[in-house]
Amino acid sequence: MNRDVKIALISLLACLVLIAAAGAVSATDDAVTQEDNATDELPVEPIEDPHPGYEAQNVDDDTEELIELGKMLYFDPRISETGTISCNTCHNVMEGGDDSRDIAMGVHGLTGPVASPTVWNSGFHHTQFWDGRADTLAEQAEGPIVADVEMGMPDHEAALDRIRAVEGYTDRFEDVFGDDEVDLERVTEAIAAYERTLITDNSPFDQYARGDADAMTDEQIAGMETFQEVGCQSCHSGPMFSGQYDNPESGEFHGDRNPTYEDNELCQEYIEDWDLQQHDGRMDVTGDEADQYVYKTPTLRNIEHTAPYLHTGQGENLEETIRMMAACQLDTEIDDEEVDEIHSFLTALTGEYPEQTMPQLPNPSGESMIPMDAMDIDLEDAIGEEVDEDENGEDDGIGMMAVLAGILALALVAALATIVYMRQQQTA
Ligand code: HEC
Ligand code: HEC
Repeated sequence: MNRDVKIALISLLACLVLIAAAGAVSATDDAVTQEDNATDELPVEPIEDPHPGYEAQNVDDDTEELIELGKMLYFDPRISETGTISCNTCHNVMEGGDDSRDIAMGVHGLTGPVASPTVWNSGFHHTQFWDGRADTLAEQAEGPIVADVEMGMPDHEAALDRIRAVEGYTDRFEDVFGDDEVDLERVTEAIAAYERTLITDNSPFDQYARGDADAMTDEQIAGMETFQEVGCQSCHSGPMFSGQYDNPESGEFHGDRNPTYEDNELCQEYIEDWDLQQHDGRMDVTGDEADQYVYKTPTLRNIEHTAPYLHTGQGENLEETIRMMAACQLDTEIDDEEVDEIHSFLTALTGEYPEQTMPQLPNPSGESMIPMDAMDIDLEDAIGEEVDEDENGEDDGIGMMAVLAGILALALVAALATIVYMRQQQTA
């Protein structure tokens, strides 16, 4: 197939899903136009059977009220142990949907093992987390609330209790669900519904793919070709440029070569400098050694706004990360011009961020949503857990040694004092 035709085809497929989704989301405002928006005036047929992971396409049940409730929960730091960390702390929708940090920081300043990915367009991820351990946004959202390095609640019930205690919230639940029961399923479904609205459509690339030849600069177009020629497209394909490794039917399964960190000469310096083998990746989920160091291919949409890069957050800037990808994933050294072109193309993937407004959160009357003793109890717990998990028996060993050393030191001092005393007695 002619290269240009191939690129054009890939581009069209890439923006299709977004078009459909934009139609579906606006359908929450105006249900009548949904069908029309999804299919009208498209030059090729929409994907008939999209991967079920593209949940942003199935938003029929996402009413405005559900989305608004989800947004409140997403922005509410009071469902974290210390009352300081909300989803938005690490996935800041006032910017690129991440935290600009190498690794995430949650309650008590505790840091997590990996970098926060963006939540923009997360309704199009065919799988969630770097290692793909959750299938859906709702399933994903259960994790951070109780993760001790994130929102740090001791358990889900404790988080739900905080919500239950606020009439403003229970009233909302009643409006949305028909009764005021606050359970984890409802909470995570609401958050997911809000996340499914976080779509950045209409990037220069999307406009170009829809037929506006002037939407991308010459350098961006050259970069798109280089991106294809070098082979980035082999993984960063599809509507999100995120590949579909968990979907063998799509022919995009990259488990066999993704990433090729291990036995790749060109990659060795990155492995060391960027600490690329500190986690096992997908192997943690499947237990399969073939999945060691395998990560899902992340989206490249809005990538210019989500530095630092990679799961370790060690890709300091886009140029170096592009160079590293060529070396580690494709075993190729690319020159400065190619890096610049690809960089330029990647900036064409920045879409329009729909404006976000802060929700007004409900308060209990005359009291705080965070119990006065929340910190005392839980801080102890947090410290206890840390010691247990990280140090295990070793810690006890060290404690015993310290006690023994203390006794020994005391004995020595006593012996010395006795000797000195006896000498004095003798000389006297
Ligand atoms: C302390 C920072 C922090 C907080 C708070 C936090 N997250 Fe995350 N989030 C992360 C990190 C780090 C990851 C990646 C973890 C991994 O892959 O192992 C992640 C992953 C995700 C993903 C998957 C994205 C992808 O590309 O796979 C979504 C979606 C998400 N978080 C949404 C949320 C929601 C919703 C909340 C609130 C309920 C939340 N996060 C709270 C740091 C945070
Ligand atoms: C074999 C599959 C594969 C190929 C080919 C590939 N990538 Fe990647 N890409 C990945 C994976 C997997 C990650 C995440 C790796 C990690 O976190 O360790 C990634 C991460 C990235 C990131 C960082 C994303 C983020 O959110 O942190 C950028 C930028 C990127 N790739 C660009 C490129 C470019 C440009 C090329 C071509 C030179 C390329 N990739 C080729 C699989 C691939």
